[in-house]
Amino acid sequence: MSDATGTSTAASAAVAERVPQHFTLEAPSFTASSGAWRTTQRANGTRLRVARGGAERGNLVWADLPEPLVKGATYRLKLDWTPRTSSPVINLHLRNASTGRFKVIGQIDVPDRNARTRLDTLFFRAPESGLSQFMLGALHFTGLGRGALVRSIEIEEMPAGSAPVSSGAPVQGGFASQAKILALKDHARQVRSHAHARTPDGVSGARARMIFHAHAVEKGLSRSNARLGFGKIAVPGLAKEMNAWLAAGRSLDDSFLQSSAAVMKTYFDRHREKKFDVQHFRDLFSAQAQELIDTCTHEEGGVLPAQKVREIVLASNEDRSFLDVMYGRRSVREFTREPVSDEDIAAAVQIAMQAPSVCNRQGGRVHQFSDPRVIKSVLDIQGGFSGYEMPPRLLLITADLDAFLFAAERNQPYVDGGLFMMSVLLGLTHMGLGSCSLNTAMGAQKDAAIRKIIDIPDHEVFIAFVAVGHYDEQVLVPRSKRTEIDQVLTRHEKG
Ligand SMILES: Cc1cc2nc3c(=O)[nH]c(=O)nc-3n(C[C@H](O)[C@H](O)[C@H](O)COP(=O)(O)O)c2cc1C
Repeated sequence: MSDATGTSTAASAAVAERVPQHFTLEAPSFTASSGAWRTTQRANGTRLRVARGGAERGNLVWADLPEPLVKGATYRLKLDWTPRTSSPVINLHLRNASTGRFKVIGQIDVPDRNARTRLDTLFFRAPESGLSQFMLGALHFTGLGRGALVRSIEIEEMPAGSAPVSSGAPVQGGFASQAKILALKDHARQVRSHAHARTPDGVSGARARMIFHAHAVEKGLSRSNARLGFGKIAVPGLAKEMNAWLAAGRSLDDSFLQSSAAVMKTYFDRHREKKFDVQHFRDLFSAQAQELIDTCTHEEGGVLPAQKVREIVLASNEDRSFLDVMYGRRSVREFTREPVSDEDIAAAVQIAMQAPSVCNRQGGRVHQFSDPRVIKSVLDIQGGFSGYEMPPRLLLITADLDAFLFAAERNQPYVDGGLFMMSVLLGLTHMGLGSCSLNTAMGAQKDAAIRKIIDIPDHEVFIAFVAVGHYDEQVLVPRSKRTEIDQVLTRHEKG
């Protein structure tokens, strides 16, 4: 009988009767299966080096654990080390000293090849009995300086019945455990982004915090029943973020800053006209912020009548109505050799930027690729375009996690990213370009491999690739007929 996590209840009972295992190996002593590994004991840990040409299957290195792990028990592995490899992932194994058999217990992502001090934590369930060695394979240690400095390995048995909550690969496959692990990887990226968004490099984070408050004020200004003096939380919040932006010496031309300043200009002008004192709010802004507010233009932010166009509109294609574009978009997978201009793509992206986003955070990003070798290597990994000639251009639509502020917004990058992506498709169609969305529904390994080829910041998540090119109007495309509207629209009438 198995519980929801796949642990047999009999095994859980057996585990519960023992004293849980807990070992820490400081600067562990490693044994190598061949001369491909060189190990040196150092004061700060054990240095493992893979010799030139040694990054081959079968070249293994292991450290003995004090006793074999118990089959079915859940463990937490803490690996304090500095791995060095150009491989995007490193598999971690347990080995049976008597038989030489080994099992993968998880996978560690290596987002960049530069050696970094890391504390990797991995939860795993011992898949069989007799596993008494922690093992690494040379296959995962490639590139310059390949190897690792291992400071310590700690393995601690978790209470019986606890579920693995690992960032590593599941010992037992299955949808539930794989989905959980991928969700935890996404979660880990979100947590990293949350920290990054608060560092001096986290410009998107600073923008998101500004626009979060500016948008609340903007909404207040647009309300027909707005009460004067509103914004008791938003105005101080915006003052704090604008002051911080300026104190950090960030760009004065930034559109999020300008927009925030224009919102406050409208706010102060409105209150001045109505002779309502909000000096206490004005005082919250630094002298530099006040100057910016006073000198900016209203066009950057504030309010406007719904019928007015928000900003520059590209010369519109008179022959194509909205419905022509909407019904005319279809996934085209075969393109002509006609070159695609950067201007056309930029115009499509400009159109797409009209997509809505949560409090106008604008976290959608587009990465454009034209090098045929890059396009091919990326799409070979993506796998959803096989059998077609490579497109002249490839876009990757991402969502910048730094633009999202709260844990409850965990799905918002995908919502905003999806809306933005659809708008890109419509923009491309409007510009007369063919396009085909290509999924990024991939596991950690493919994601990491693609990130190795194209330089995408860690805090951006993939939404979709889009193949782009000109096409012959006679080229065939799947009809992809849509279902009936009753399948989609449910009317919830009163009562
Ligand atoms: C997010 C997303 C991912 C997709 N991934 C692929 C893909 O990997 N390969 C492919 O050939 N088509 C892909 N498509 C295209 C769909 O098959 C196509 O949109 C669908 O059949 C409807 O046809 P239409 O786009 O012509 O209206 C994808 C579409 C979306 C929205």
